[in-house]
Amino acid sequence: MINGDVARGWINRWDAQQQGYLPDREDRFTALIDAVEAAAGRPDPLILDLGSGPGSLAVRLLRRIPAATVVAIDADPLTLGLGRAAWREVPGLRFVDADLRTPGWSVALGLDRQPDGAVSTTALHWLPEAALTALYAELATVLRPGGLLLNGDHMRNDDSEPTLVRLGRALIEREEQRRFPDGLAETWTDWWESAAADPALADLVAEREARRVDSEHHGSPSGRLSVHLAALRSAGFAEVGTLWQRGENRLLCAVRPAIETRHTT
Ligand SMILES: C[S@@+](CC[C@H](N)C(=O)[O-])C[C@H]1O[C@@H](n2cnc3c(N)ncnc32)[C@H](O)[C@@H]1O
Repeated sequence: MINGDVARGWINRWDAQQQGYLPDREDRFTALIDAVEAAAGRPDPLILDLGSGPGSLAVRLLRRIPAATVVAIDADPLTLGLGRAAWREVPGLRFVDADLRTPGWSVALGLDRQPDGAVSTTALHWLPEAALTALYAELATVLRPGGLLLNGDHMRNDDSEPTLVRLGRALIEREEQRRFPDGLAETWTDWWESAAADPALADLVAEREARRVDSEHHGSPSGRLSVHLAALRSAGFAEVGTLWQRGENRLLCAVRPAIETRHTT
């Protein structure tokens, strides 16, 4: 396993490059954790982090709710390896290598009780629409009754609202230009290229290459708000709506019904 300081150094760089694309990233983390805290109903909630990357959200959640357990799920050996090495001393945090596109992903988690919530940031737009719909359907069977999904991501308006789509994009571009007039210090691509060149990460990089993990994921229909709303409703989530928002950057919340309302007849 790689050295913890080296891993934390790479995660600091990860956070800085993500913050470049999402100036409100910390505000969104804070709002999401506020919602977990307010809804958990117990001091030691069990929370799934879907597409956790190296665990940026998971560790912030555990700093605020130290008695929680977070199962951080990702399919990328490099970000999983960084998270495991950096946060091995953090009680309550466990990383699981699982592909959220594969039906039955929740079985691999080895859960001993139903989770109180599932959280995710900047990850679920990677999934094709059919895989996202299947993921939400499986999640609805896993969460405890009354449990929450909290998904923070850019979710644009529908293509039938082209002006809103265009203005949503324009707001993001203008904000980026205001905050970073000289461009980003390190882009997503720069980060991956630099990580690939670090001999300390060679084993993780080799595993990533062997598995053919792809970091390019733009343009998926799962970046549309309507796709999430339809998939969550068809999965049987009861209340579905935006809890926090800045432009297209939203925190979507969905509640599993406390009492099963679906009928078979
Ligand atoms: C942009 S990163 C965000 C990571 C972290 N949630 C954060 O906010 O920093 C997206 C993550 O989703 C993960 N991911 C994408 N598709 C996945 C899948 N099918 N199964 C599991 N993880 C996936 C990627 O490996 C990556 O770590």
